Amino acid sequence: MGRWSRLVAPRLVDFTGLPETGRMLDVGSGTGSLAFAIAERKARARVLGIDPAKEYVAYAASRNRFADRASFEVGDAQRLRFAEASFDAALSLLVFNFIPDPREALLELRRVTRPGGKVSAAVWDYGAGMRMLRIFWDAAVHKDPKAEKLDEKHMPLCRAGELSALWKQGGFKNVREEPIDISLRFESFADYWDPFLLGQGPAGSYARHLEPDRLQALRDEVQRVLSLSAEKTPFVLPARVWSVRGIVPKPA
Ligand SMILES: C[S@@+](CC[C@H](N)C(=O)[O-])C[C@H]1O[C@@H](n2cnc3c(N)ncnc32)[C@H](O)[C@@H]1O
Repeated sequence: MGRWSRLVAPRLVDFTGLPETGRMLDVGSGTGSLAFAIAERKARARVLGIDPAKEYVAYAASRNRFADRASFEVGDAQRLRFAEASFDAALSLLVFNFIPDPREALLELRRVTRPGGKVSAAVWDYGAGMRMLRIFWDAAVHKDPKAEKLDEKHMPLCRAGELSALWKQGGFKNVREEPIDISLRFESFADYWDPFLLGQGPAGSYARHLEPDRLQALRDEVQRVLSLSAEKTPFVLPARVWSVRGIVPKPA
């Protein structure tokens, strides 16, 4: 985790349009890419990252080079410990599709962000625009139709219009949704394939549980689709996230 979110994080910060100063919340901070991008781009802002996984919180804290302005703690987006209007903005990168009750989480983000502050999020376009995962899942389903139900294209909130519909239901003003397109560069086929073997995320978990001969067949199919001239040929795949932002309304 983190390799690709480091590429998207600065783009989400720019898309959100943050004030120069204030207190920002990174929801589902993981290894800290977004919190660090905020601290880097907004030199007078403070940022708090929250994540339910204490291992990620500890890892992000160990990499924190903004000691006085960035911090991390364990927390769940659906039940934030903060008072109303504690933050000037709340952002969330590649998280909302994993939250069991995204509506409840969004209402919490709205509650803890001051009126007039921005709340934004981004989610991979798992169905089509995230080629790295699309190639993997299309090959997996080609080899084993039962893999279809695990395909990440079924993730919630990953299609055009879904995040903005949620933000409008949440009562935000000036809701805007945009794609953010990036390029994922791989140094070789192994650079693409080996991370799946670490067991992270739905694709990694699927790969890890395959018998060796079926894993080899999937590897061969992915390699065929990528049609690289050699194992060590570098290549680039496009990737898209859907991003959304909205403004917390002022009380009537
Ligand atoms: C794909 S990772 C993204 C992490 C980080 N934002 C990044 O872009 O590198 C998804 C993260 O969502 C976190 N997460 C899952 N459920 C959550 C919840 N209910 N509240 C907050 N974070 C959650 C996970 O622990 C994980 O760190």
